[in-house]
Amino acid sequence: MMKNIKLWDKEFRISYPSSEIKKDVETMAQTLSRDLADENNPLFLSVLNGSFVFTADFVRNIEFPCEVSFVKLASYQGTETTGTVNQLIGLTENIEGRTVIILEDIVDTGITLGKLVETLSRLKPKSIKIATLLFKPDSYKGTAKVDYVGRSIPNEFIVGYGLDYDGLGRNLPDIYTLV
Ligand code: IMP
Ligand code: MG
Repeated sequence: MMKNIKLWDKEFRISYPSSEIKKDVETMAQTLSRDLADENNPLFLSVLNGSFVFTADFVRNIEFPCEVSFVKLASYQGTETTGTVNQLIGLTENIEGRTVIILEDIVDTGITLGKLVETLSRLKPKSIKIATLLFKPDSYKGTAKVDYVGRSIPNEFIVGYGLDYDGLGRNLPDIYTLV
């Protein structure tokens, strides 16, 4: 029997082994490669920190020449009237007129994704596609269409393959669910 793992105070059990992740990532990348084969210079935008592992595996299965870049959404407290403000950090490319593919590790409520799509839209890309390894459909409240999903999962807390619990777990090759 597989041993559970412990991160800080919590116990997790394996729920999505690396062999299955690999298959799903390959399938997604092949589908996207076919869909976007004729795009002129699409840009993959990976959302740090969680997406770094997924991005590395995903882009190595893309079958056309492509650029990959990394961004971060930093939230800070704005004025009392504006509340929490999200700032996009790290985008140095001009995305006007280009197809941008957002690479996410997980889409949960979709709040992060919504803010990112809104910010990128102001920079006038040709189109924005969204690819996420994991999707929690029961939790999603967003309006953006999630174009490519590796696996839909129940509304549970998971770690591994880039995802963390309070900083730990990102290095695990498999994905684990909170017990
Ligand atoms: P959202 O804005 O609710 O869609 O989720 C934003 C972020 O929450 C994701 O990018 C993750 O960093 C984090 N997150 C959501 N669900 C999980 C989970 O199950 N495990 C670890 N992080 C999660
Ligand atoms: Mg993330």
